[in-house]
Amino acid sequence: MGGGVARVRGIELAYDDEGAGDALVLLHGFPFNRSMWRAQVEALSASVRVVAPDLRGHGGTTATEGAATMEEMARDVAALLDELGVGRATVGGLSMGGYVALAFYELFRERVGALVLADTRAEADTEEARRTREETARRALSEGMQAIADAMLPKLLAPATLAARPETVELVRGMILGTSPEGAAAALRGMAARKDRTALLAGIDVPTLILVGGEDALTPPAMSEAMRGAIPGARMEVIGGAGHVSNVERPAEFNSALARFLESEVE
Ligand code: MLT
Repeated sequence: MGGGVARVRGIELAYDDEGAGDALVLLHGFPFNRSMWRAQVEALSASVRVVAPDLRGHGGTTATEGAATMEEMARDVAALLDELGVGRATVGGLSMGGYVALAFYELFRERVGALVLADTRAEADTEEARRTREETARRALSEGMQAIADAMLPKLLAPATLAARPETVELVRGMILGTSPEGAAAALRGMAARKDRTALLAGIDVPTLILVGGEDALTPPAMSEAMRGAIPGARMEVIGGAGHVSNVERPAEFNSALARFLESEVE
Protein backbone atom coordinates (compact mmCIF):
# COMPACT_ATOMS: atom_id res chain seq x y z
CA MET A 1 0.00 0.00 0.00
CA GLY A 2 1.21 3.51 -0.73
CA GLY A 3 0.82 6.19 1.85
CA GLY A 4 2.55 7.18 5.04
CA VAL A 5 2.41 9.76 7.77
CA ALA A 6 2.34 13.49 7.00
CA ARG A 7 3.18 16.24 9.51
CA VAL A 8 0.45 18.82 9.05
CA ARG A 9 -1.09 21.46 11.30
CA GLY A 10 0.92 20.25 14.31
CA ILE A 11 -0.24 16.64 14.14
CA GLU A 12 0.90 13.41 12.51
CA LEU A 13 -1.67 12.34 9.96
CA ALA A 14 -1.60 8.76 8.63
CA TYR A 15 -2.98 8.04 5.18
CA ASP A 16 -3.20 5.60 2.29
CA ASP A 17 -2.44 6.89 -1.19
CA GLU A 18 -2.90 4.36 -3.96
CA GLY A 19 -3.31 4.55 -7.74
CA ALA A 20 -2.89 7.43 -10.15
CA GLY A 21 -4.95 10.00 -12.03
CA ASP A 22 -8.02 11.88 -10.75
CA ALA A 23 -8.09 11.90 -6.96
CA LEU A 24 -10.80 10.32 -4.81
CA VAL A 25 -10.57 11.18 -1.12
CA LEU A 26 -12.39 8.81 1.25
CA LEU A 27 -13.18 9.90 4.81
CA HIS A 28 -14.04 7.25 7.37
CA GLY A 29 -16.82 7.16 9.96
CA PHE A 30 -16.71 7.20 13.77
CA PRO A 31 -14.97 5.57 15.60
CA PHE A 32 -13.22 3.81 12.76
CA ASN A 33 -10.10 4.46 10.68
CA ARG A 34 -8.97 4.41 7.07
CA SER A 35 -8.80 0.61 6.98
CA MET A 36 -12.59 0.63 6.53
CA TRP A 37 -11.93 1.68 2.91
CA ARG A 38 -9.63 -1.25 2.11
CA ALA A 39 -12.06 -2.87 -0.38
CA GLN A 40 -12.65 0.50 -2.07
CA VAL A 41 -8.92 1.29 -2.26
CA GLU A 42 -8.24 -2.12 -3.78
CA ALA A 43 -11.03 -1.94 -6.35
CA LEU A 44 -10.87 1.71 -7.37
CA SER A 45 -7.13 2.43 -7.33
CA ALA A 46 -6.91 0.66 -10.70
CA SER A 47 -8.66 3.67 -12.27
CA VAL A 48 -8.23 6.63 -9.87
CA ARG A 49 -5.87 7.85 -7.16
CA VAL A 50 -7.47 6.99 -3.82
CA VAL A 51 -6.37 8.98 -0.77
CA ALA A 52 -7.76 7.76 2.55
CA PRO A 53 -6.60 9.57 5.70
CA ASP A 54 -7.10 8.67 9.34
CA LEU A 55 -9.07 11.61 10.68
CA ARG A 56 -7.80 13.46 13.76
CA GLY A 57 -7.83 11.15 16.81
CA HIS A 58 -8.36 7.96 14.80
CA GLY A 59 -6.04 5.19 13.57
CA GLY A 60 -2.48 6.45 13.22
CA THR A 61 -3.39 10.15 13.43
CA THR A 62 -2.69 12.18 16.57
CA ALA A 63 -5.53 12.79 19.03
CA THR A 64 -5.75 16.33 20.36
CA GLU A 65 -7.46 17.79 23.42
CA GLY A 66 -10.86 19.46 23.25
CA ALA A 67 -13.44 18.93 20.53
CA ALA A 68 -12.14 17.68 17.18
CA THR A 69 -14.58 19.64 15.04
CA MET A 70 -15.64 18.71 11.53
CA GLU A 71 -14.00 21.93 10.30
CA GLU A 72 -10.74 21.02 12.03
CA MET A 73 -10.79 17.61 10.38
CA ALA A 74 -11.61 19.19 7.00
CA ARG A 75 -8.65 21.56 7.35
CA ASP A 76 -6.41 18.59 8.20
CA VAL A 77 -7.55 16.88 4.98
CA ALA A 78 -6.91 20.03 2.93
CA ALA A 79 -3.40 20.29 4.41
CA LEU A 80 -2.74 16.64 3.55
CA LEU A 81 -3.89 17.22 -0.03
CA ASP A 82 -1.50 20.21 -0.20
CA GLU A 83 1.33 17.91 0.92
CA LEU A 84 0.37 15.33 -1.69
CA GLY A 85 0.04 17.87 -4.50
CA VAL A 86 -3.67 17.18 -4.98
CA GLY A 87 -5.58 20.32 -5.94
CA ARG A 88 -9.07 19.11 -6.73
CA ALA A 89 -10.68 15.80 -5.84
CA THR A 90 -13.87 13.85 -5.55
CA VAL A 91 -14.49 14.00 -1.81
CA GLY A 92 -16.42 11.16 -0.24
CA GLY A 93 -17.26 10.34 3.34
CA LEU A 94 -19.29 7.86 5.32
CA SER A 95 -21.27 9.07 8.31
CA MET A 96 -18.87 11.30 10.31
CA GLY A 97 -16.74 11.31 7.16
CA GLY A 98 -19.79 12.72 5.36
CA TYR A 99 -20.07 15.50 7.96
CA VAL A 100 -16.41 16.28 7.26
CA ALA A 101 -17.00 16.12 3.49
CA LEU A 102 -19.78 18.72 3.79
CA ALA A 103 -17.56 20.93 5.99
CA PHE A 104 -14.78 20.51 3.40
CA TYR A 105 -17.15 21.54 0.62
CA GLU A 106 -18.18 24.64 2.57
CA LEU A 107 -14.59 25.64 3.35
CA PHE A 108 -12.81 24.59 0.14
CA ARG A 109 -15.51 24.64 -2.51
CA GLU A 110 -12.99 25.11 -5.34
CA ARG A 111 -11.17 21.91 -4.42
CA VAL A 112 -14.24 19.67 -4.73
CA GLY A 113 -14.92 18.17 -8.16
CA ALA A 114 -17.66 15.84 -6.96
CA LEU A 115 -19.15 14.62 -3.67
CA VAL A 116 -20.00 11.19 -2.33
CA LEU A 117 -22.16 11.19 0.79
CA ALA A 118 -22.62 7.73 2.31
CA ASP A 119 -24.80 6.88 5.30
CA THR A 120 -24.75 10.44 6.51
CA ARG A 121 -26.90 13.55 6.95
CA ALA A 122 -26.69 17.32 6.85
CA GLU A 123 -28.57 18.08 10.09
CA ALA A 124 -26.92 19.05 13.36
CA ASP A 125 -27.49 16.98 16.51
CA THR A 126 -30.61 17.47 18.58
CA GLU A 127 -30.12 18.58 22.20
CA GLU A 128 -30.79 15.02 23.30
CA ALA A 129 -28.21 13.64 20.86
CA ARG A 130 -25.66 16.15 22.21
CA ARG A 131 -26.28 14.97 25.75
CA THR A 132 -25.88 11.35 24.67
CA ARG A 133 -22.61 12.19 22.89
CA GLU A 134 -21.22 13.75 26.07
CA GLU A 135 -22.26 10.71 28.12
CA THR A 136 -20.62 8.45 25.52
CA ALA A 137 -17.44 10.56 25.56
CA ARG A 138 -17.23 10.24 29.35
CA ARG A 139 -17.95 6.54 29.14
CA ALA A 140 -15.20 6.02 26.57
CA LEU A 141 -12.75 7.84 28.87
CA SER A 142 -13.80 6.02 32.05
CA GLU A 143 -14.62 2.52 30.77
CA GLY A 144 -12.65 2.24 27.53
CA MET A 145 -13.66 1.37 23.99
CA GLN A 146 -14.97 -2.14 24.74
CA ALA A 147 -18.10 -0.61 26.27
CA ILE A 148 -18.50 1.62 23.22
CA ALA A 149 -18.08 -1.30 20.81
CA ASP A 150 -20.67 -3.39 22.67
CA ALA A 151 -23.17 -0.53 22.64
CA MET A 152 -22.59 0.49 19.01
CA LEU A 153 -22.25 -2.77 17.08
CA PRO A 154 -25.92 -3.83 17.15
CA LYS A 155 -26.90 -0.42 15.75
CA LEU A 156 -24.12 -0.14 13.19
CA LEU A 157 -24.63 -3.36 11.27
CA ALA A 158 -27.61 -4.90 9.50
CA PRO A 159 -29.19 -7.92 11.24
CA ALA A 160 -27.96 -10.19 8.41
CA THR A 161 -24.39 -8.93 8.85
CA LEU A 162 -24.54 -9.49 12.62
CA ALA A 163 -25.96 -12.99 12.18
CA ALA A 164 -23.98 -14.34 9.25
CA ARG A 165 -20.79 -12.34 8.71
CA PRO A 166 -18.62 -12.76 11.79
CA GLU A 167 -15.51 -11.54 9.92
CA THR A 168 -17.23 -8.23 9.12
CA VAL A 169 -18.42 -7.86 12.72
CA GLU A 170 -14.86 -8.51 13.96
CA LEU A 171 -13.39 -6.04 11.48
CA VAL A 172 -15.71 -3.28 12.68
CA ARG A 173 -15.19 -4.21 16.34
CA GLY A 174 -11.42 -4.19 15.78
CA MET A 175 -11.53 -0.67 14.37
CA ILE A 176 -13.56 0.57 17.35
CA LEU A 177 -11.22 -1.09 19.86
CA GLY A 178 -8.24 0.38 18.02
CA THR A 179 -9.49 3.94 18.54
CA SER A 180 -8.16 5.69 21.63
CA PRO A 181 -10.74 6.87 24.18
CA GLU A 182 -9.22 10.37 23.90
CA GLY A 183 -9.64 10.41 20.11
CA ALA A 184 -13.20 9.08 20.36
CA ALA A 185 -14.18 11.63 23.02
CA ALA A 186 -12.75 14.49 20.97
CA ALA A 187 -14.67 13.36 17.87
CA LEU A 188 -17.90 12.91 19.82
CA ARG A 189 -17.56 16.46 21.15
CA GLY A 190 -16.74 17.68 17.65
CA MET A 191 -19.79 15.97 16.17
CA ALA A 192 -22.00 17.39 18.94
CA ALA A 193 -20.77 20.88 18.03
CA ARG A 194 -21.29 20.52 14.29
CA LYS A 195 -23.50 22.99 12.57
CA ASP A 196 -26.59 22.26 10.54
CA ARG A 197 -25.62 22.18 6.87
CA THR A 198 -29.03 21.58 5.31
CA ALA A 199 -29.00 25.13 3.91
CA LEU A 200 -25.78 24.31 2.05
CA LEU A 201 -27.36 21.48 0.07
CA ALA A 202 -29.38 23.56 -2.42
CA GLY A 203 -26.20 25.36 -3.48
CA ILE A 204 -24.14 22.23 -4.15
CA ASP A 205 -23.27 22.45 -7.82
CA VAL A 206 -20.94 19.50 -8.26
CA PRO A 207 -22.04 15.97 -9.22
CA THR A 208 -23.15 14.23 -6.03
CA LEU A 209 -23.70 10.56 -5.26
CA ILE A 210 -25.64 9.58 -2.15
CA LEU A 211 -25.27 6.02 -0.93
CA VAL A 212 -27.08 4.40 1.97
CA GLY A 213 -27.51 0.93 3.39
CA GLY A 214 -31.13 -0.17 2.97
CA GLU A 215 -31.11 -1.16 6.66
CA ASP A 216 -29.12 1.75 8.03
CA ALA A 217 -30.68 2.31 11.46
CA LEU A 218 -28.53 5.36 12.37
CA THR A 219 -28.93 7.47 9.22
CA PRO A 220 -31.88 5.72 7.56
CA PRO A 221 -32.61 5.92 3.82
CA ALA A 222 -35.25 8.63 4.47
CA MET A 223 -32.43 11.01 5.52
CA SER A 224 -30.54 10.25 2.31
CA GLU A 225 -33.71 10.75 0.32
CA ALA A 226 -34.10 14.20 1.92
CA MET A 227 -30.52 15.08 0.89
CA ARG A 228 -31.12 13.78 -2.62
CA GLY A 229 -34.18 15.99 -2.92
CA ALA A 230 -32.26 19.03 -1.68
CA ILE A 231 -29.07 18.71 -3.78
CA PRO A 232 -29.70 19.65 -7.42
CA GLY A 233 -29.16 16.65 -9.71
CA ALA A 234 -27.95 14.34 -6.93
CA ARG A 235 -28.03 10.64 -7.63
CA MET A 236 -28.89 8.13 -4.91
CA GLU A 237 -28.38 4.39 -4.59
CA VAL A 238 -29.59 2.16 -1.80
CA ILE A 239 -27.24 -0.70 -0.92
CA GLY A 240 -29.56 -3.63 -0.19
CA GLY A 241 -28.82 -5.77 2.86
CA ALA A 242 -26.37 -3.27 4.37
CA GLY A 243 -26.67 -1.31 7.59
CA HIS A 244 -24.79 1.89 8.52
CA VAL A 245 -21.33 0.70 7.41
CA SER A 246 -22.53 -0.03 3.89
CA ASN A 247 -19.10 0.01 2.20
CA VAL A 248 -17.80 -2.69 4.58
CA GLU A 249 -21.00 -4.73 4.71
CA ARG A 250 -21.61 -4.85 0.95
CA PRO A 251 -18.33 -3.83 -0.71
CA ALA A 252 -19.09 -5.17 -4.20
CA GLU A 253 -22.38 -3.25 -4.47
CA PHE A 254 -20.86 -0.11 -2.94
CA ASN A 255 -17.86 -0.26 -5.28
CA SER A 256 -19.90 -0.73 -8.41
CA ALA A 257 -22.20 2.21 -7.52
CA LEU A 258 -19.12 4.36 -6.87
CA ALA A 259 -17.34 3.21 -10.04
CA ARG A 260 -20.42 3.93 -12.18
CA PHE A 261 -20.62 7.42 -10.69
CA LEU A 262 -16.92 8.13 -11.24
CA GLU A 263 -17.08 6.91 -14.84
CA SER A 264 -20.17 8.87 -15.78
CA GLU A 265 -19.97 12.07 -13.72
CA VAL A 266 -16.35 12.91 -13.04
CA GLU A 267 -14.26 14.36 -15.83
C1 MLT B 1 -20.44 7.35 12.24
O1 MLT B 1 -20.62 6.21 11.79
O2 MLT B 1 -19.55 8.09 11.81
C2 MLT B 1 -21.34 7.82 13.36
O3 MLT B 1 -22.44 6.98 13.47
C3 MLT B 1 -21.76 9.24 13.12
C4 MLT B 1 -22.59 9.76 14.24
O4 MLT B 1 -22.49 9.29 15.38
O5 MLT B 1 -23.36 10.73 14.01
